[in-house]
Order: sequence, then structure tokens, then C-alpha cells
Amino acid sequence: MDRVIILDTTLRDGEQAAGARMNMKEKLEIARQLERLGVDVIEAGFPISSPGDFESVKTIAKEVRGPVICALARALPQDVDRAWEAVKDAANPRIHVFLSASDIHRMYQLKKSREEVLEASRDMVARAKKYLSDVEYTPMDASRTEPEYIHKIVKAVIDAGATTINLPDTVGYAVPDEYGDLISGVLEHVPNIDRAVVSAHCHNDLGMAVANSLQAIKRGARQVEATINGIGERAGNAALEEIVVALKTRSDFFNVTTKIDTTQIYKTSRLVSEITGFVVQPNKAIVGGNAFRHESGIHQDGIIKMPITYEIIDPTTIGIPASSLVLGKLSGRHALKQRLAELGYTLSEEDLSRVFAAFKELADKKKDVTDKDIESLMAQEQRMVSEVYRLERIQVTCGDRGIPTASVQLTDPEGKFLADAALGTGPVDAVYKAINRIVGVSNKLTEFSVKSVTEGIDAIGEVLIRIESDGVIYTGRGADTDIIVASAKAYMNALNRLLNAKKPAK
Ligand code: KIV
Ligand code: ZN
Repeated sequence: MDRVIILDTTLRDGEQAAGARMNMKEKLEIARQLERLGVDVIEAGFPISSPGDFESVKTIAKEVRGPVICALARALPQDVDRAWEAVKDAANPRIHVFLSASDIHRMYQLKKSREEVLEASRDMVARAKKYLSDVEYTPMDASRTEPEYIHKIVKAVIDAGATTINLPDTVGYAVPDEYGDLISGVLEHVPNIDRAVVSAHCHNDLGMAVANSLQAIKRGARQVEATINGIGERAGNAALEEIVVALKTRSDFFNVTTKIDTTQIYKTSRLVSEITGFVVQPNKAIVGGNAFRHESGIHQDGIIKMPITYEIIDPTTIGIPASSLVLGKLSGRHALKQRLAELGYTLSEEDLSRVFAAFKELADKKKDVTDKDIESLMAQEQRMVSEVYRLERIQVTCGDRGIPTASVQLTDPEGKFLADAALGTGPVDAVYKAINRIVGVSNKLTEFSVKSVTEGIDAIGEVLIRIESDGVIYTGRGADTDIIVASAKAYMNALNRLLNAKKPAK
């Protein structure tokens, strides 16, 4: 069977989703998980776009040694040079050069002729090729470009050294037959195409990104570009997990393999959702909360008699733990360690001690501690930032009469105890105002959401907030059985990120 190369672009196209900004530490954490997932190529960012993006790509290139690390560049000399600077320390670096090819983009946006686009593409691929051997080229908006012109540019850039040719459906306009024809056309009409891998890159504006990507593979594309949970610009990109599991489940039809360790899919999906704050819709294929839940009596009856009656994918294939063993306040450190290992977490003894203490605190408030609770504890552990101010205690009074009032106690960087109080329009507002009186950093709350992690009255509530300061967004998360406490923890988490980012570099 042929193997399809999986290029993950969660950190580049995925991050282009409105509100999905990630900091360097978060990107590195995702890149490490993508390596465990087994992706062939990580498109780590667009180095010329900002100093932060440059640093993230550079760090990932140094630290993540398994996959190819790819940097995006427009067909401009300064972009290509910057991309090289960012990836040059990678074990396997790649530069990805792109330039719009369609008449619509050329005429209204670039104001360049076909010849100028062809020439810039060829020259910038040649420039990248002087730095490294692995060069990808994308004629942007390929699905809305006249095929003969695409064939001409593709031939020219392969002669200049491109080793991967990516043909994107940039605006999610194509339908599977059309997109398949674009791929077949290039494979049939470009004489030197045997020197390059053809790649699919689809957006989901009409809900066809995965279908188009699979059709491309059926027609001979051997690289596919996708993001975890399908996040990305506008309606998003093709969802990596959907493509990979479709190829595996219907290998009888597609006859191709990938290098992905599918048992890492669930964990990767959770991590990306946690970091970006983008909740996965319950009915989302493969990783949605309901994807393996059977509600109707007829279906449940069938599943009990023989799972394949209604279940085409075994949930353990994507790493959803089979057991739903419940822990409680009498469970010991060893039981927690074992359950964590089954859920895919390996912790040092020191980290385990911290998680065990949080587990005991939770088990005191909550009778049954389920897998989802444990994952929420782990998410908090992974989200821990170095604390400038630490939340010690909060006290709130509220109700339908009187003015919501909060008092808070924090410790400052020197360990000094600080307390203050404030009134607010609601209890969360009062808590945030009291914290602001102590910390004194101006910021604007841009997003606040609460969700329940588990079912029942004693469920853990998870709060996600975003605050803005000097044009930069900082995300904070907090979880607790009391949603006011969870809100305070989330705010402290975001404030500590802001304060850490503003610390002068040593
Ligand atoms: O959608 C697109 O065309 C892109 C390119 C930059 C590869 O993301
Ligand atoms: Zn894209």
C-alpha cells in the first residue's frame, strides 16, 4: 500500500482561526504531541509574520527532532530568508513558498500578471533551494485557477527545485469531483511531476474539506495538509483526525496507509481544544463527545449483542480509554498513578504529588472522580504558569437583593500577603475588581465562558477567559466545583501569563 504524508498545519493555518492565538510554550507543547501522534511534517508557523512566530518556529525546529519542520514564506526574498533562519537548526527542515495564482487574486489583490507570478514563484523556489533540499510550493487559490496555467507554473517550480506541490482549495469552493480533477490534471499533464509529491490542502467553507482531501488521495495526492479538530481560517481546514481515521477504517477503499499512531488522536484533540479554548462540538466526527455514545434503545441492544452492528470504529483506536473505572476519596496514590497511565499520562513523582493533592481536594467535594475529572485536573496541571501572584482565598456575597461583594487574598512575588474587597454588578465582576485593586494591571476582558466537565450537581465547572492588554490576548483557565472560584482561578491564570510576558527579559 502507498503511504500518505501527513502535514499538520494546526500551528500555522490552525492558528489563523480568529481567537486561536497560542504562545510559544503552548505551541511547543502541541508540537511535541504532534510528534507523538506521528505526523510526518509540522508546519510550525510563518516566521516573517511576527517576532513571536519566528521564535516559535525556531524553538520547535531545535526541540522537536522527529518530523520535518516547515516554515511558510510568501514568494519574497525577505520571507524566504527569514523562513530559513527559523528552520535551519531543524533535523529535517522545509520551506514552503506560496503565491496567489488565480485571476481573481492576481487582478484584485496582487496586481501582477501571470508571467510575473510565474517568475517570482520560480525565483523564490530557487532561492529556498540554495538553503535546503526540501521545498514546497503552493499556487494559492489553485482550485479557482485555470488548469493550463497551474500546469505551467508547477512545471517551472519543479525545474527550480520544488519537491512538494500543494494545490489548495484556499476558499473552500471546490466540490470533490472538481478538486479530484485538479489533482489528476496535474499528475497527467505536468511532464516532470514524477520529481515531486502532490499535496492536498482544503478549507471547509462549504463543509467539504475532508471529502475533497480524500478525493485528492483517491486521485493520487500523496501528501495531505490538515489541522487537529479542523481549526483554521473561517470555517477551518480539513480535520486531520477525520482524514486519518477514514483512511484506516476504509483502507479497503483507499488502499493507502499513514504513519499516524491513531491511539494519540483523542489526547491531541483535547490538548488543542484546551490550549485554543475552542470547544469540540459534541457531534463532531471521531473526537466529539457523542461520537461513540449510543442513545436509542435499538442501537444499544445491537451494541450489546455485537458492537459492529452500530459501531464502525472501536473507540480505543483513537485512544479513548476502554475502562470507566471511577476513583473516590479512598483511592490512593497508586490507583491514581495507574489510572493516569491508562489515560496516557506519565508523570514524575513530583508532578504526581501535586496532582494527587489536587485529586484528594476534589474527591473531598465530589463523590465519584471520573476520567473527565482526572483529565480536567491534568489540563490544569499542564496549564500551570509560573505564578507571579497566587490566589489564596476568596469570599463572595450575592443574591437578588443587595450588591454583590467580594473579598480576595493573594500573595505577591515576595510571598507578602495582600487583601482587598470590591463591589460588582455580579459575583464574578466583584471578584475581578477586587483582584484588579491588588494587581493593578490594566486589561480588558474579551471572552468569558463556563462549561461543565462532568454531569451531576457536583460537576466540575471549567472557566475559560481571554483578556487583552496592549493588543495581545492572554488566555486563562480555571476549574473547580464552585464556578466563582473557577472564575477567579481563570482570571489569575490569565493575569499571571500577562505579567510573565511583560517581565523584562533577563
Ligand atoms: O489555504 C491556503 O491556500 C494556504 C496556503 C498559504 C498554503 O493556507
Ligand atoms: Zn489554508
